[in-house]
Amino acid sequence: MVQRPAMQRNFWTTLPRPILVLAPMAGYTESPFRRLIKEIEPSTVLISELISAEALRRKNEKTMRLAEFMPEEKHFYCVQLFGKTEIAFLEAVKVVEELGADGIDLNLGCPSPKVVGSGHGSALLQDPCSTATLIEQIVKATKLPVSVKMRLGFYDDKNLIQTAKAFESAGISSLAIHGRTTKQKFTGQADWNRIYEVKENVRIPVLGNGDITSAQIAKQKLKNLDGMMIGRAALRNPWIFAQCRAAFAGNPIPPKPTLPEQLDFFRRHAQLATEFKNETWAMIELRKHFAHFVRGIRGAAQFRDRLIRVESLVEMEEIFEEMAKEF
Ligand SMILES: Cc1cc2nc3c(=O)[nH]c(=O)nc-3n(C[C@H](O)[C@H](O)[C@H](O)COP(=O)(O)O)c2cc1C
Repeated sequence: MVQRPAMQRNFWTTLPRPILVLAPMAGYTESPFRRLIKEIEPSTVLISELISAEALRRKNEKTMRLAEFMPEEKHFYCVQLFGKTEIAFLEAVKVVEELGADGIDLNLGCPSPKVVGSGHGSALLQDPCSTATLIEQIVKATKLPVSVKMRLGFYDDKNLIQTAKAFESAGISSLAIHGRTTKQKFTGQADWNRIYEVKENVRIPVLGNGDITSAQIAKQKLKNLDGMMIGRAALRNPWIFAQCRAAFAGNPIPPKPTLPEQLDFFRRHAQLATEFKNETWAMIELRKHFAHFVRGIRGAAQFRDRLIRVESLVEMEEIFEEMAKEF
């Protein structure tokens, strides 16, 4: 049994079940978007996008900005770290503690060639034993709960159960699994059966991830799991977490808001993003979100090209007014 620092608080054990988490998505799940998700469904756990432990330990200015969060994100907000050396992780967790986050999430899932090629992200799944030893050192070094987000495996899923057990023994507080291997990247379908099998073999909370597109599907997929992480579907439908909560409670699923209400969501997103940095940054952020948003509206293709190039709040408002007339 791993000896944890006396003050460690493990919020994962006290969260309402099923646990709902906004999956980290680099370039999308910045603080303004996370806050809006939390406003809609306050029980949603938030995670930063992947942040380099090495850069965070050096307090690189840009990296510090990525880890930053607002008080409304607390209860619960985790910083997700990727790295490979013990020294980088141990110093980075101290920075996360200073920032006042609620937890540390370790990225063992990123398949990007740049990240994997340098031995980070899901490359750590290639040697689960050494990685478990590394995780144990991280757990011992912090009073924050440490969770892991991983894939089924690197080339294949044959070491999955053994890996999950090793990470549990290393002292992690929760385990989220994207039901694909690293080699699969985003191809094929996420295999949730393997995730259910993990839950049968460990006692820590296990969260499923991959291809949840609606509250109905979330309810079907939950089975023996403690909860789930939802990523891409939340970009098209940020109300999905509230819809899932209703579905899990056996209540009628609230419909997605009307188009004018959805446009208000983006106005608010733009306002929060402008306050967080500036209008130029806000527009760059929003453009990416618009590309997903219009996919959820039939007949909105004509607005797509303008929205993904939008340069100012004034221009955004003009397009919104046209959209509101059209639909
Ligand atoms: C644009 C994008 C960026 C992502 N960035 C991260 C990341 O920073 N950290 C991470 O653990 N996973 C990242 N992921 C993976 C998601 O968290 C999630 O595991 C994946 O999208 C599958 O879930 P979904 O089908 O609900 O989207 C990213 C995915 C996308 C599409």
